[in-house]
Amino acid sequence: MDELHITGGNRLDGAVPIAGAKNAALPQIAAALLSPHPLELTNLPKVSDVDNMLRIISLYGATVESHAGGTTINAAHVAPGEVDYETVRKMRASILVLGPLLARFGSARVSLPGGCAIGARPVDMHLKVLSALGATVDVERGYIVASTNGGLRGTRIVLSGPSVGASETALMAACYAKGETEILNAAREPEVVDLAACLTAMGAEIEGAGTHRLLVKGNTTWRAASHHAIPDRVEAGTYAAAAMITGGRIELVNARMEHLSSVLQVLETMGATVWPGDRGVVINGRERIRPADITTEPYPGFPTDLQAQFMAMACLADGASVIRETIFENRFMHVPELSRLGADIALNGAVALVRGKPELRGAPVMATDLRASVCLVLAALAAEGESVIKRVYHLDRGYEQLDRKLAQCGADIRRVSV
Ligand code: EPU
Repeated sequence: MDELHITGGNRLDGAVPIAGAKNAALPQIAAALLSPHPLELTNLPKVSDVDNMLRIISLYGATVESHAGGTTINAAHVAPGEVDYETVRKMRASILVLGPLLARFGSARVSLPGGCAIGARPVDMHLKVLSALGATVDVERGYIVASTNGGLRGTRIVLSGPSVGASETALMAACYAKGETEILNAAREPEVVDLAACLTAMGAEIEGAGTHRLLVKGNTTWRAASHHAIPDRVEAGTYAAAAMITGGRIELVNARMEHLSSVLQVLETMGATVWPGDRGVVINGRERIRPADITTEPYPGFPTDLQAQFMAMACLADGASVIRETIFENRFMHVPELSRLGADIALNGAVALVRGKPELRGAPVMATDLRASVCLVLAALAAEGESVIKRVYHLDRGYEQLDRKLAQCGADIRRVSV
């Protein structure tokens, strides 16, 4: 198992290429199951969640070919068999294969995804979407068993909240429905918009992507397609935080300013200078970070996937910050680990009061989930002395070559196999 050894204190300066978005790539890989024609995906990030999703669709019979320009998936010979719990337990996004398999084949049996450290994360909304489209859906001994009586039927779906995953399930399944489907209270995240673009390239007719009301024509005529995933706004925000926490300067190559507006606003409040560069966005930190009041919200609000990273910054701010988590009920596992580095954080339910300190001190810490682990890396970059971060496999799920990208900007970071 790998560890990261980080000696803090270096000011980061450089350019970081932002990879394709993991959370755009995962539903697009699932969407490949819809069509009998090949789908080429380019700009897939080289992260273990993507490898795992490709493995899952290949277990259903899809062929996956990686080449220099991208990855081509051919789902002509897919069958809606069963993929066991061991394969899907590692990744909640495996639920995204349910809609495509059911829609295309009229039945599917998919293991309930494993529990997740950041909260209960039920899949009830995914199941309700499929029921609304006319499927019979049951949960039997840990498996979701779904079937249709002659195919899905277009309808009006009102989501009880703007769930990213349930919006994606609805979009994919509705492509096969007979007649039009209207999805209300849909998520507006760029990753949902990018899935709509991918499906459109594959032949779907979708209107309203990026709004709360999506319209899907249904009865899609599929065709071979190619799609380039959007850059990862969470990876971009993470390196922005790395620039800030070390008082450095990082150019986020490929990052899209329009996907980051709430994040850049908070960064500016915390003292960053932000400007558009020729190749992306440039972030310049300052000597001392200013405190901030942050509430996570669905897009275009501040993303929950950057809450931990911004908490690391707040630990070193010149004053007290308030951070409210409204998306997941248990996304504060980084708090005890940050405290090991000397942070002063008081938790009260979904609200954290972070009293900034002039310095943190290096210590051994344990990664608990993807974003919690990267927040420890950020804190360690600024802490005095050495920190050792264990369970680095959490990081590898969603960050492509994190240690290399940081080292190229001047960080003292080493990956050690133990
Ligand atoms: N929810 C339900 N029932 C459902 C679905 C969601 O109660 O059937 C709840 C969740 O428990 C949560 C809220 O609704 O409290 C929002 O969940 P959502 O469905 O929007 O999240 P998701 O689709 O499971 C995606 C990302 C997450 C990101 C969230 C929110 C992917 C693969 N994952 O998850 O990414 O935090 O949207 O933006 O797209 C990460 O990358 O670290 C990560 C966790």
